Amino acid sequence: MDNRSLVSIDDYTKEEILEVLAKAAEFEKNPNSNILEGKVVSSLFFEPSTRTRLSFETAISRMGGRIVGFTDASSSSTTKGETLNDTIKMVSNYSDLIVMRHPIEGSARYASEVSDVPIINAGDGANQHPTQTMLDLYSIQKTQGTLENLNIFMVGDLKYGRTVHSLLMALSHFNPTFHFIAPKELEIPRGYKIFMDNNNIKYQEHTEFGSIINDADILYMTRVQRERFADPLEYEKVKNVYILKNDMLKDTRDNLRILHPLPRVNEIAMDVDANPKAYYFEQALNGVFARQAIIAKALDL
Ligand code: CP
Repeated sequence: MDNRSLVSIDDYTKEEILEVLAKAAEFEKNPNSNILEGKVVSSLFFEPSTRTRLSFETAISRMGGRIVGFTDASSSSTTKGETLNDTIKMVSNYSDLIVMRHPIEGSARYASEVSDVPIINAGDGANQHPTQTMLDLYSIQKTQGTLENLNIFMVGDLKYGRTVHSLLMALSHFNPTFHFIAPKELEIPRGYKIFMDNNNIKYQEHTEFGSIINDADILYMTRVQRERFADPLEYEKVKNVYILKNDMLKDTRDNLRILHPLPRVNEIAMDVDANPKAYYFEQALNGVFARQAIIAKALDL
């Protein structure tokens, strides 16, 4: 594996996470540069995306680089039976860096093992979404002034939500207290509970969603991931399990900020958007700066 790849959030040490966040703050102050002049970045999206793809493309454009790639696997030779191995070997001939989203867990790790250039994982199935985690951490640090000792509430699809999995692992460096609110069918996978137990991370699990959020510093809402369900009837049972409404926020902490990786379906009512505690659209903007910093690190710039 090219050791500059970012496949899983634990490819970064705590020090590297903090270094990338500091770099993101520099990019936020000065987003436009030519540091990618002469570089070509491949953007391979085998799965749909709005924010991740467009914020990467914005980041690359603002840094003076060029982008090649596809936004839909159906327009690539994957449809003719080309393997991921061959696609990555080809594309790594063409470019200096590959950003890839793929529906299969482990695909980014595999790609990093066959690629001659760094791979940035833009989401692999229900597994990991480390660049989302970096923008989530940046958003938390900006709004709370720290990453340490926070009460983090995660709500919704904690089973298939890859952003939850990556964020949980990253925050484990910063002495969090987690509260996981999910129906039994969508609870946090056992492997992450073992990880937290082994690392003395405090956590509680809940199925009720109500005044318990009054203790939260960060409320991380998630969409139920319809595309990961084998049985559509199982999705129907849980799709509207938790909906955050504005009146639920009246006794919450002043410093509370509501994050959501987006897209939302209906887990946050529209009346929350005007509440100053709603931060999800600013969070998405932070993705440009965080991804500029991740690209710069991957290319040693
Ligand atoms: N947060 C996120 O990954 O959004 P997209 O699926 O639109 O990229």
